[in-house]
Amino acid sequence: MMLVQFLLCLSILTSAQAATISATQCDNATASAAPNIVFDGRVRANATVTDFDGTSGPFNPDFVKGENVSFSQLIKFPEGEIALFDSSVGAKAIEVTISDQSIFNPGGSNAQTAVRRAELMPRGDLVADNVTTTGIKTLHFSIKPSADRPLNVSHEYLMVFLERADFAGNLFMLRTGTLIGSDGSTKNDLVLFGNTQNGTQTLFTTPFEKAAFNNFALRLDFTQNTIQVFQSTGGAPLVQQTEPLPNDLSGNGDYHVGLNKNPTDPGADSLRSGFQESGINEGMVYGSIFIEDNANSTVTLS
Ligand SMILES: *[C@@H]1O[C@H](CO)[C@@H](O)[C@H](O)[C@H]1NC(C)=O
Ligand SMILES: *[C@@H]1O[C@H](CO)[C@@H](O)[C@H](O)[C@H]1NC(C)=O
Ligand SMILES: *[C@@H]1O[C@H](CO)[C@@H](O)[C@H](O)[C@H]1NC(C)=O
Ligand SMILES: *[C@@H]1O[C@H](CO)[C@@H](O)[C@H](O)[C@H]1NC(C)=O
Ligand SMILES: *[C@@H]1O[C@H](CO)[C@@H](O)[C@H](O)[C@H]1NC(C)=O
Ligand SMILES: *[C@@H]1O[C@H](CO)[C@@H](O)[C@H](O)[C@H]1NC(C)=O
Ligand SMILES: *[C@@H]1O[C@H](CO)[C@@H](O)[C@H](O)[C@H]1NC(C)=O
Repeated sequence: MMLVQFLLCLSILTSAQAATISATQCDNATASAAPNIVFDGRVRANATVTDFDGTSGPFNPDFVKGENVSFSQLIKFPEGEIALFDSSVGAKAIEVTISDQSIFNPGGSNAQTAVRRAELMPRGDLVADNVTTTGIKTLHFSIKPSADRPLNVSHEYLMVFLERADFAGNLFMLRTGTLIGSDGSTKNDLVLFGNTQNGTQTLFTTPFEKAAFNNFALRLDFTQNTIQVFQSTGGAPLVQQTEPLPNDLSGNGDYHVGLNKNPTDPGADSLRSGFQESGINEGMVYGSIFIEDNANSTVTLS
């Protein structure tokens, strides 16, 4: 194994590159062969919920959530399956929950009264200079319905998305439930959509496995404006599901991982009109969250 990695190390280095890489690094075949992880959101087994309220965890403690709740009230550590890329680093799954209190009020005077939101975003200081939205980056995550807090699939949910830095649109979105304006025929599927400023095209659809993790890698080429889907379930290695698909990825922004529950029958202002029931107690389980640099490497599949 070490020999194979060492030969790979030599084969991927041109002499110009080798000159810029220290002897120690080149000797270290593991480091040279593996893609660099630019954001690691895998939650270590010894993490506590209070880590999500401060800067000891990988996520922004302030956004996006109800204005009167803290992330320590929203995060649970579910028992059970460890996600594909969590076990190797001693990480555990997290559950992100929403309730009637999950009303985001950006700026303190513009409450999104019809939406319920709890979404984790990488901490800004860990992803400076748009490191996660330039070059070729692959977002990895695993997602599984909560056994204790099921969704109401009469509603539309966003569960992973990349929102432009100017908030003018989403560059991609993974959704489930009854999509607004649809007949609900995909309410039990995971559906990946493209840029909302280019017609919100459907890019990939797969059944939402309930009993195991649904593993994804989205290879995002910010130079070519393409997105490529790799996916598997449970402990199976990721499998390429699509070619690189055209999708405008300009505008940078933040990755969101969590629940964003939309109202039914929204009017023109879907943030503040439409129907949202009360008594909400819903969650979604996530693991294996990280972003790797694949400019000079292939997507990590297992
Ligand atoms: C070799 O790479 C591994 C994995 O990235 C790292 O943990 C280790 O510290 C590196 N060792 C040296 C000598 O650079
Ligand atoms: C948690 O575990 C990590 C290793 O996974 C270790 O580096 C860290 O110090 C531990 N933190 C605490 C508070 O024990
Ligand atoms: C948060 O609490 C304040 C003070 O009680 C209240 O005025 C506000 O409406 C609450 N916001 C939400 C979104 O519930
Ligand atoms: C990061 O992206 C924002 C939004 O597109 C842009 O205004 C800013 O100049 C970028 N910063 C760097 C260092 O690339
Ligand atoms: C699910 O949502 C629909 C539409 O808002 C609502 O009529 C129904 O009561 C909800 N079901 C539950 C169990 O909350
Ligand atoms: C924009 O949408 C059209 C279909 O309406 C599609 O053919 C094209 O590839 C999309 N372009 C990008 C950059 O997403
Ligand atoms: C990828 O390799 C090219 C040269 O082959 C180099 O210029 C570039 O810095 C590398 N990019 C990353 C992100 O490692």
